[in-house]
Amino acid sequence: MGDAHKDTTYWDRVAVSYQRHTRIATTDFHYGPLLEGDRLLGLLPDRLKGRRCLEVGCGAGQNSIYLARKGARCIAFDVSQRQIDIGERLARRCRVMVDYRCRSMETLPDNKLGRFDLVHSVHALAFVRDQAAALLGMARMLKNGGILLLATSHPLAAAEPVRIGHRRMGMLLTDYYHPEPDRRGGRRGWPEVCAVTLPFGDLMNAIVAAGCRIDRIEEPEPPPIPEMSEAAVRRSIPYESRAWRERYPLLVAAPYTLIVRAVKLTAA
Ligand SMILES: C[S@@+](CC[C@H](N)C(=O)[O-])C[C@H]1O[C@@H](n2cnc3c(N)ncnc32)[C@H](O)[C@@H]1O
Repeated sequence: MGDAHKDTTYWDRVAVSYQRHTRIATTDFHYGPLLEGDRLLGLLPDRLKGRRCLEVGCGAGQNSIYLARKGARCIAFDVSQRQIDIGERLARRCRVMVDYRCRSMETLPDNKLGRFDLVHSVHALAFVRDQAAALLGMARMLKNGGILLLATSHPLAAAEPVRIGHRRMGMLLTDYYHPEPDRRGGRRGWPEVCAVTLPFGDLMNAIVAAGCRIDRIEEPEPPPIPEMSEAAVRRSIPYESRAWRERYPLLVAAPYTLIVRAVKLTAA
């Protein structure tokens, strides 16, 4: 990791602890906390060998490493240099080539990079101010017929748990159309970031406006983790942490992750 680098962004500051406290597999493609990976969900294109793939908001790029292991040619972007540094080391350890770049998804499209067969992103879009513009930028990086595979915060992720009566828990969403941003950092000298969930229709319409045809929408329910052995959890769940396991009762009550797969139709 470059010592000269200053942790200027929230993501730089949390990168090491995020990667240390989250188990993110490189042997499956993950979509979100406590969810099964692509081996079970089956959203990735069939043939990956030789495919050009672009990941945006990659963190350490475990999904790109997985795709590179399948023979794909991968570029991975993240706004945090610390995340990129960790990713580069991880890719070396996994003996695969991923071309990591420290840049914002808000700078897309980039004609110099050419067009991709797959543009994918997991839980990064919600941190961008203008999500429709970022989606348009991602779609413009796709070849016609290429796949956009997006996992992002479900609109119900903005809901707060509430107790109803004696034993039951429910979810309270005070304003679906203008949800309270999920603010992180912002205290004791930390930079702040916030995630904003889009209403379902706004997200779908932004993908369609970017020239894509939506062909799958998934709101996966986590598998029954409390009944599973640790070995089964490790085998089937590629993204988890102790903190996420504590939130399991909420994640089975309402979806946290929304997955959309779309096909690029036109040169929007
Ligand atoms: C919750 S983490 C998810 C990382 C990774 N996709 C994963 O599943 O582990 C969100 C990531 O989005 C990145 N990010 C936030 N804003 C970004 C932007 N404008 N452009 C690119 N990456 C961004 C952060 O640096 C962070 O690595």
